[in-house]
Amino acid sequence: MKLTVLVDNHTYIDRYFLGEPAVCYLIEDGDRVILLDTGYSDVFLENAERMGIDLGRVTDIVLSHGHNDHTGGLPAFFARFSQQVRLYAHSGALLPKRVGGEMAGSPYALDQLPEQVQPRLFTKPGAVSEHVMFLGEIPRVYPFEQDRSIGESSAACGCCWEADALIDDSSLALTLSDGVFVVTGCAHAGVCNTVLYAKQVTGQAHICGVLGGFHLFETGDALDQTIRTLGELGVKLAYPAHCTSLAVKSAFVRAMETVEVGVGLTLEWT
Ligand SMILES: [Fe+2]
Ligand SMILES: [Fe+2]
Repeated sequence: MKLTVLVDNHTYIDRYFLGEPAVCYLIEDGDRVILLDTGYSDVFLENAERMGIDLGRVTDIVLSHGHNDHTGGLPAFFARFSQQVRLYAHSGALLPKRVGGEMAGSPYALDQLPEQVQPRLFTKPGAVSEHVMFLGEIPRVYPFEQDRSIGESSAACGCCWEADALIDDSSLALTLSDGVFVVTGCAHAGVCNTVLYAKQVTGQAHICGVLGGFHLFETGDALDQTIRTLGELGVKLAYPAHCTSLAVKSAFVRAMETVEVGVGLTLEWT
């Protein structure tokens, strides 16, 4: 099993890939080649090329949620590659979203997806490959991770907007030989809620690490509770990325073993 960061906000010194405030991770599990999100633009295609990675091998695309910094690269992918792909997402991820009056959701509604796409929309957890589980809708358990609405989404009637609680936010749980590695997009559902649910869904007690956007910006009580709870959940290794501020990353560095995430980071497990 291998994970490669194709897009993140951050780039490493002396590694000449492109950054953008978005997410795209490549996860290879045997013969399944999975993209978690596609970034905001076609930057992931350029970075993959620079890394010598052929995205013509991609078999599955998972959308962590509908925001366009995670789904915006889909048209570029379909313009470049013609293979059949399965597309996993929460059933709310392809509905319209807007933030500050600007459209901020997926470039495709369900009925606009190209023919090469086999959509698999879930609210429940579902297997993507032998070792990769899509968590579906994540229960919001911890009080310090409540009330995380951003912008608006299309209401069930389809004719008006309502506050977007990001119920479509999901993550992946990778089952490794010694436990579970959690990969988030933005963790709008809350990184603690996500890790707790990953443990429940997989039945694995040991969390090897958590990588992705934690959607945390401010220091203070909620962050302290988050870090304490992650420790109680057994998280020892953190890879805060994307929507995680420098102040929050610094707090993680002080509290637990923390890895700097940037474009080109590769993790490989046997
Ligand atoms: Fe988001
Ligand atoms: Fe994001």
